[in-house]
Amino acid sequence: WAVFEPEIEAIQALKREHDAVILAHNYMTPEVFHGVADIVGDSLALAREAQHVTAGTIVLAGVHFMAETAKLLNPAKRVLLPDLRSGCSLAESITPDDIAELRRQHPGVPVVTYVNTSAAVKAASDICCTSGNAVEIIESLGVDRVIMIPDQYLARNIAARTGVEVITHPGACEVHERFTPADIDDIRSGNPGVTVIAHPECPPNVVAASDFSGSTAQMIDFVGQVSRAGVPDAGGRRKVALITECSMSDNVAGEHPDVDFVRPCNLCPHMKRNTLTAIRRSLELGQHEITLDPTLEAPARRAIERMLAVK
Ligand code: 13P
Ligand code: SF4
Repeated sequence: WAVFEPEIEAIQALKREHDAVILAHNYMTPEVFHGVADIVGDSLALAREAQHVTAGTIVLAGVHFMAETAKLLNPAKRVLLPDLRSGCSLAESITPDDIAELRRQHPGVPVVTYVNTSAAVKAASDICCTSGNAVEIIESLGVDRVIMIPDQYLARNIAARTGVEVITHPGACEVHERFTPADIDDIRSGNPGVTVIAHPECPPNVVAASDFSGSTAQMIDFVGQVSRAGVPDAGGRRKVALITECSMSDNVAGEHPDVDFVRPCNLCPHMKRNTLTAIRRSLELGQHEITLDPTLEAPARRAIERMLAVK
């Protein structure tokens, strides 16, 4: 940790100097998550928290769609993304034209759009959702069928928990699509009694082989439940496997010294661009400022605000 101290101190001073707060996703490395973040959370929490920021500048230690969402929800603030290359395979997988085509094929069916998308795609949608509220959002619409884009796996995993039929788009998270049921079998056979917790961007057969599935914040909460009430092994230890991005286990492990983390992990290269150095430079140089296309702003904000009004 000592190796990070000078940069952490420099960032804390820059935050004061520039009236800035750092909102950080749960996939940040521990030195960002524990060292410099003011607010941490899943996509839903970061969106909610962005609305209430009173400081002049938000540094979004996450990916582009999260920074865009923060700007949509608190447009008077300067929102900085440390590295503009922090994209997302889901956001890349779909355009407004794809939505127009889906609407042509399925007239009258509402479009529920995962927040992991561009403002342009949100603007073409009826309502947004995150992995933390997708069930409630879909059920709030009171319909039999929805178009749920762009993550085919999230859509199918959520459909399995509702009575609503989903029409999907072939998008996937490049991190979670790589997990397989064989990975879960290996984890279980090597770690008897392990609790397997998977993100719903994983393929449905991976989620089906797991004990719990939820957003990154819900996964962290579930680790807390295992820590409090899980059945310990003969040595008094509880074991958890988080089927998601690598940093999650690192960030949660410190809070649960009684839990052993089996660490299957796939790195998200986009999230990992938020190094301490990138964050420091972002504050020093005021880069990279998020701007919105004025024609998209109102409809994109409406889709997010409709979501936040439900859950
Ligand atoms: P949540 O934190 O909302 O579960 O999202 C995970 C993710 O992949 C964000 O990019
Ligand atoms: Fe996108 Fe997947 Fe990375 Fe999240 S983990 S930002 S969904 S590529």
